[in-house]
Amino acid sequence: MDLLGEKDDLRLIELNQFFAIISPMNFHYKLSLCLVVALAIINPVYSDVTKGKELSESCVACHGQNGISLNPVWPKLAGQNPKYLATQLHEFKKGPEGKRNNAVMYGIAMTLSDSNISDLAEYYASLKPTIGLTKDDQLELGRNIYRGGNMEIKMQACISCHGPNGQGNYAAAIPMLSGQHSQYTYQQLKNFQASKRSNDYNKMMRNIVHRMTDDEMKAVASYIEGLY
Ligand code: HEC
Ligand code: HEC
Repeated sequence: MDLLGEKDDLRLIELNQFFAIISPMNFHYKLSLCLVVALAIINPVYSDVTKGKELSESCVACHGQNGISLNPVWPKLAGQNPKYLATQLHEFKKGPEGKRNNAVMYGIAMTLSDSNISDLAEYYASLKPTIGLTKDDQLELGRNIYRGGNMEIKMQACISCHGPNGQGNYAAAIPMLSGQHSQYTYQQLKNFQASKRSNDYNKMMRNIVHRMTDDEMKAVASYIEGLY
C-alpha cells in the first residue's frame, strides 16, 4: 500500500511539472500532449510487460522462448490468464506450507517479489498461445467428458467453467486450458485428485476429479491439447 501511495504522489508531482512546461504552448499541441500523458498514466501495464520480459530470462530454460515449453511436463504459459498466473506463483512461493507445493517452482518463486510476480504474469499473458493435437483414439471419450461430464457419477462438464474453446473465464481467473501439453494437464488432474494440489477455491477442481478414472483423465487431457 505504501508503495502505491508513493507512486501516486510522484505522478502528481510529474503532472504539476508537466503543466508548468506546457502552459505557454498552443491549444492543439497542449491537447495532444495531455492525451499522451493521460494514456501513459492510466495504462502503466506496458512497462510491467517489459520488466516481465527481462525477468523471464530465468524461466526460458523450462517454459520456453515466448512461453511455449518444449518439454510436455512443463506447462505452456503463453496467453494464460494473468490473475491465475500470479496466484500460482504466490502459492508456489509458500513452499511446503502452501497448497501447490512443487520443489522446482518453490526455489524459483521464493526469489520473486510481489511486483516481479505481477510483471511476469502480465508478460506471459501478453504472449500468443499455440495449439497442439488430440490423439484420434482419445477424441470421442475426451470430448464427451469435456462437453458433457459424466452423469452417472454426477461429474460436471469442464465446458461449464473452462468454456467451449477452453479459454477459461477471464474475470473469474479460471485458467485457459486450450493447447496445453496433455502430459502436464493429466499430471495436474492427478494432483488435484490426490489433493497434492489444493489451491482450487471451494474445491472446484477436487470435486470434479475425485471419481474420474485414469483413462478419463488421459482422454480429456488429450482432447484439451487440440481444443481451440
Ligand atoms: C527448472 C524448470 C523450471 C523453471 C526454470 C521455471 N519453471 Fe515454472 N514450472 C516448472 C514446472 C515443472 C511446473 C509445474 C509444477 C507443478 O506440477 O505444479 C511449473 C509451473 C509454473 C506455473 C504454473 C502454470 C499453470 O498453468 O498452472 C507458473 C505460473 C510458472 N511455472 C512460472 C514460472 C516463471 C515465471 C519462471 C521464471 C521466473 C519459471 N516458472 C521457471 C518448471 C520450471
Ligand atoms: C466448477 C468450475 C470448474 C469445472 C467444472 C472444471 N474446472 Fe478446472 N479449474 C477450475 C478452477 C477455478 C481452476 C483454477 C484452480 C487454481 O486456481 O489453482 C481450474 C484449474 C484446472 C486445471 C489446472 C490448469 C493449469 O494450468 O495448471 C486443469 C488442468 C483443469 N482445471 C481441468 C479441468 C477439466 C479437465 C475439467 C472437466 C473434467 C474441469 N477442469 C472442470 C474450475 C473448474
